[in-house]
Amino acid sequence: MVYRKINVVGDYVSLSKAAAEFIVEAIQKKIGCVLGLPTGKTPMGMYRHLTELIKADNIDISTVTTFNLDEYIGLGPEDEGSFHAFMEKHLFSQSNFLKSNIHLLNGLAPDLKAECARYEEEIREAGGIDLQVVGIGVNGHIGFNEPGSDFNSGARVVKLTEATRRINSKEFKESAQVPLTAVTMGLRNIMDARQILLIAGGNEKSLALAKALQGPVTEEVPASILQTHDNLIVMLDKSAATLLKIR
Ligand code: GLP
Repeated sequence: MVYRKINVVGDYVSLSKAAAEFIVEAIQKKIGCVLGLPTGKTPMGMYRHLTELIKADNIDISTVTTFNLDEYIGLGPEDEGSFHAFMEKHLFSQSNFLKSNIHLLNGLAPDLKAECARYEEEIREAGGIDLQVVGIGVNGHIGFNEPGSDFNSGARVVKLTEATRRINSKEFKESAQVPLTAVTMGLRNIMDARQILLIAGGNEKSLALAKALQGPVTEEVPASILQTHDNLIVMLDKSAATLLKIR
């Protein structure tokens, strides 16, 4: 049951600014900061403000390492709907992160099991994740850990639910183009981060948030595992917080 860590920050713009400022603080607190990054509609505003802050305040990001949560299987950086393309468009083309410090799961890897093991090894070699930013799906998924995902899951291949494919189809010309499977960091990988920032906006997330943050910890709501993390920060806009009991 999470109360004290919930910050209701007003509207979506304020949410995006607050999340971007939180990331800048993490970068400035630790040389060689390792960030875990999400994709989706919610973080778009955060990335916009983050790139503005990096430019305006000349933030040194030369030692920052990034790991993205997930990627669709069968899509590569050239594919518009891929998370590689999303990150390039919304963050990496707008800022000077070192290419060698940017890490995403490769959805085109011939051996996906080996790819997931390689990714976990890269995270270990980087010293683990200092700040993992996550969004939340309307069914309570984080990354692509869909309902029923084992709390102790590592990086792996997952089957996307029809609900997730339908919602994510907005990023594709044809809904049939949305891949059926993806590779994702597992819930254990996410929970191993030293700090987690959960961001969510919009009324459509209010039920998932109420279940995840103030309901039982259950694998049917993957994000509910976040309640057990000892360094969780939650930033929501007002409409996402409508069903939460805030003290
Ligand atoms: C996708 C991503 C998640 C993201 C979720 C919500 O499934 N794999 O990492 O949190 O969608 O995205 P949005 O912010 O667009 O609602």
